[in-house]
Amino acid sequence: MKTYLIVLSVVILAMQLIRPERTNPTADKALEIQTDPKVMKILKRSCYDCHSNETKWPVYSAIAPFSWTIASHVDTGREVLNYSTWKQLDDNTKVKKLQRTIQTIGTGVMPLPSYTWIHKDAKLTKADRELLHQWAKKELGKLGVKVF
Ligand code: HEC
Repeated sequence: MKTYLIVLSVVILAMQLIRPERTNPTADKALEIQTDPKVMKILKRSCYDCHSNETKWPVYSAIAPFSWTIASHVDTGREVLNYSTWKQLDDNTKVKKLQRTIQTIGTGVMPLPSYTWIHKDAKLTKADRELLHQWAKKELGKLGVKVF
């Protein structure tokens, strides 16, 4: 039992040596997405931790193995959709991302359940989903895409 605990401690300590990057790259504010304040509030509350350069890294995000999962969600999240650099995207990409937004909020896969499990306030209410849906539809309209 004692040996087991020692081995376990060593493994957990060794895990801490693998430290993923937890950084917030600086982004030009002029490139950030612009929406009406109500939509912005939802995006900031529920999406920005993974889809922007303004991630709020919780204390436990410094501890392996949580650090690995969290950093990987943020990395991938920023890669597929980064609201901090939204204006850099060409129109076709914006259309794709807005269409995916409608899909993901419709199916409830975003924000990731592992995230809302801890960040209860990030869960989208029915009203939030409706607002995001209407917003995405309007933005798509501006880009010449009709959504029914
Ligand atoms: C905990 C981190 C996290 C949060 C919070 C989060 N996402 Fe994501 N999101 C991801 C990851 C990771 C992916 C990539 C998933 C994959 O490819 O399997 C993703 C993918 C997406 C995609 C698909 C993009 C594409 O082109 O494939 C959309 C759209 C999206 N998220 C929208 C949102 C919205 C809107 C919110 C807030 C309501 C949100 N996400 C909150 C992590 C997150």
